[in-house]
Amino acid sequence: MKNFVERNIPMWEKASTPAEAEKIQEELYALMRDRLYGMMPPAPAEVRAKAVGKDTEIADKTFAGKAKHQRYRLSFDADKGEAAFEYDYFAPDDGKKHPFFVNICFHGPAGGHYLPAEEIIDRGFGIATFNYDEVSLDANVWDGIVPFYNMDRTGRDDWGKIGIWAFAASRVLDHILTLPEVDPDRIAVIGHSRLGKTALWAGANDPRFALVISNESGCGGAAINRGKVGEALSGMTDVFPYWFSPAMQDLRGVAPDDLDFDAHMLLALIAPRHLLVGSAEGDEWADPQSELYACRAASPMWEAYGKTGLVCDSETPVAGKAFHEGFIGYHMRPGSHFMSRTDWNIYMDYRDKHNV
Ligand code: GCU
Repeated sequence: MKNFVERNIPMWEKASTPAEAEKIQEELYALMRDRLYGMMPPAPAEVRAKAVGKDTEIADKTFAGKAKHQRYRLSFDADKGEAAFEYDYFAPDDGKKHPFFVNICFHGPAGGHYLPAEEIIDRGFGIATFNYDEVSLDANVWDGIVPFYNMDRTGRDDWGKIGIWAFAASRVLDHILTLPEVDPDRIAVIGHSRLGKTALWAGANDPRFALVISNESGCGGAAINRGKVGEALSGMTDVFPYWFSPAMQDLRGVAPDDLDFDAHMLLALIAPRHLLVGSAEGDEWADPQSELYACRAASPMWEAYGKTGLVCDSETPVAGKAFHEGFIGYHMRPGSHFMSRTDWNIYMDYRDKHNV
């Protein structure tokens, strides 16, 4: 008997080789861009960084002196002048190279909820973190780096906030790749909820991220829309129009079964790199089951590259269990919508296990 995914999720044309997979990924990228997230500007030729403050209070109090901390102002040439924003860099202070997290964050710079920074440093990971609101406010206003670009939201395919924050994550990556503590082959992009959606789009746009981590990203992120409970894309056209391109308004009133795309197509853009999707049992709004379905439905893209996608013998998520054998990892944590220490530790366990 066919399972839910085989019965309900529309699939792309089968790809059997990496070359075929790449071609289909190009088509799927265009689809996700045109339906949801909008265009991205080209990467700037150069990102300039200025050290703007070393907060010894943070390095000493939050990390007991175990971490190097530096706040940087990044600037780069855009269509209409120089755009800039700041981020915070934390690295274990032992002179070695480390795997890093580029953390798209609700706050800055460290020590807040959602970011157990000391534990992360203790496990040997570095953190480059920025406050998304400082790149452009999480509201229907187009401030921050946006006025320096021609995409001013009058164009149907102009970027929305998810694209804007994802673009910033790549600029942070540009800079940390020049720093001595960073292992360039082991950089992950991570975000929670709306910022989990953003991490997925950042990973889809920038293959330099070796690992993409979506924590409870739900609708407009990792959750399959067909059969989904909780939030629906159609409702998002009203509540969060500014997260997406103006073209996303076309989805108003469209039933999930009538969409010509679904979330597995976004996940498939990460192949053949590593992808982690985390859910919480009590987070019906994001819908753990739909996130698991998306991982399963995306797996054939990894197989076309000769890699294993999701390895999971269960149709449903299992609270407290991580399915972390393949290039796609999935776990569901007991509890509510949050990016907790438990989630971070599960992600770091995967990174240690797969050396990514
Ligand atoms: C709202 C929204 C979700 C989003 C979440 C968040 O609940 O409906 O799509 O993921 O906010 O970012 O916390």
